[in-house]
Amino acid sequence: MCFGQWGRDSYGSRVRGTGGGTRGVGTGCGYDKPEKMAGRALLFAGPPSTGKTALALGISQELGSKVPFCPMVGSEVYSTEVKKTEVLMENFRRAIGLRIKENKEVYEGEVTELSPEEAESTTGIYDALIKEKVAVGDVIYIEANSGAVKRVGRCDAFATEFDLEAEEYVPIPKGEVHKKKEIVQDVTLHDLDAANARPQGGQDILSLMGQMMKPRKTEITEKLRQEINKVVNRYIDEGVAELVPGVLFIDEVHMLDIECFSYLNRALESSLAPIVIFATNRGICNVRGTDMTSPHGIPVDLLDRLVIIRTETYGPTEMIQILAIRAQVEELEIDEESLAYLGEIGQRASLRHSIQRLSPASIVAKTNGRDKICKADIEEVSSLYLDAKTSAKLLQEQQERYLT
Ligand SMILES: Nc1ncnc2c1ncn2[C@@H]1O[C@H](COP(=O)(O)OP(=O)(O)OP(=O)(O)O)[C@@H](O)[C@H]1O
Ligand SMILES: [Mg+2]
Repeated sequence: MCFGQWGRDSYGSRVRGTGGGTRGVGTGCGYDKPEKMAGRALLFAGPPSTGKTALALGISQELGSKVPFCPMVGSEVYSTEVKKTEVLMENFRRAIGLRIKENKEVYEGEVTELSPEEAESTTGIYDALIKEKVAVGDVIYIEANSGAVKRVGRCDAFATEFDLEAEEYVPIPKGEVHKKKEIVQDVTLHDLDAANARPQGGQDILSLMGQMMKPRKTEITEKLRQEINKVVNRYIDEGVAELVPGVLFIDEVHMLDIECFSYLNRALESSLAPIVIFATNRGICNVRGTDMTSPHGIPVDLLDRLVIIRTETYGPTEMIQILAIRAQVEELEIDEESLAYLGEIGQRASLRHSIQRLSPASIVAKTNGRDKICKADIEEVSSLYLDAKTSAKLLQEQQERYLT
């Protein structure tokens, strides 16, 4: 995969495209076709603040909305209620998609009037209309068998009227209102597990999906998953469904323990496996739950299955580029000299630290009656806030003044 574009990450920044080399996934990973990589695992290993998490978020952008991307942090597996392996299994299944094509009998068209009438057989449709927030002027379809309602978008005749809204405008469907239609749906195996843990209503996927918003009542058991796998495999064999392996991202992987690691070894070999990306900033350390040490705190047998990608500290030019984009996203004005100075700070401390100085610097600039951040503002911020390394150094120098 080639990160040719800038994507927005969850920090509100934008992920800078890394075209190749060690700072980035590089080319030649065959990422353009996730299905070929299914069951394979990568490890991003590098010092803190070298863009591992940012890279994973960039990957999720690149994959788009149709390919599942499930991010988690190693420590999430420790819950008092759910088994560690159960958390992992659930996330595995969140990262495997299924594209289902179904030919369905539907009623499709633009809603011109909504007036409820009492009748015995169609009670579910009214609820479904409310749930989908259907209004007059929307294009919808109702499944003939199950009564499930899907709002396709707003009729394009209204496009100019509400042009400020983030709406999807669609043309009025052609032909008869009552017809057969091919419906493509993207669901994850976990969606199917969750929906089937509370079977009620119709048996088709849409009506199962419709129940998903309700709180979970029944546990998802291993037996249920096996049943689902059977149905999924049958769908795939029949050509009704297509498997879309996505990406499971496990950040801070050194937080997992030996049980999780041995479970992962097995899970990666199953026929329904996503691509798994691990990330860690640890060097040689203890494998949790054992007294052995291993590179990155990962047992050697799992390490052996991984393709390891090293992330390296960004150079000054790259840091300045990232800082400039970050300032642009946060709508802050900053001059060249300040960017270079922040780049310098980044080299000394970390990129994360210099990014964090941007917004306080802009407040200082505003207090001084300026819109644009200049070097003096950053110097002022630097005198107020310390980075981890400077703080540790001070602590060492003034050790006698602290309690131990
Ligand atoms: N390529 C990039 N484009 C835009 N921002 C980036 C990029 N790389 C890193 N950053 C920013 O730098 C900061 C640190 O990066 P990130 O959190 O990805 O580091 P990390 O390698 O995951 O560190 P850690 O090991 O501490 O988790 C974040 O604020 C992130 O948004
Ligand atoms: Mg990280």
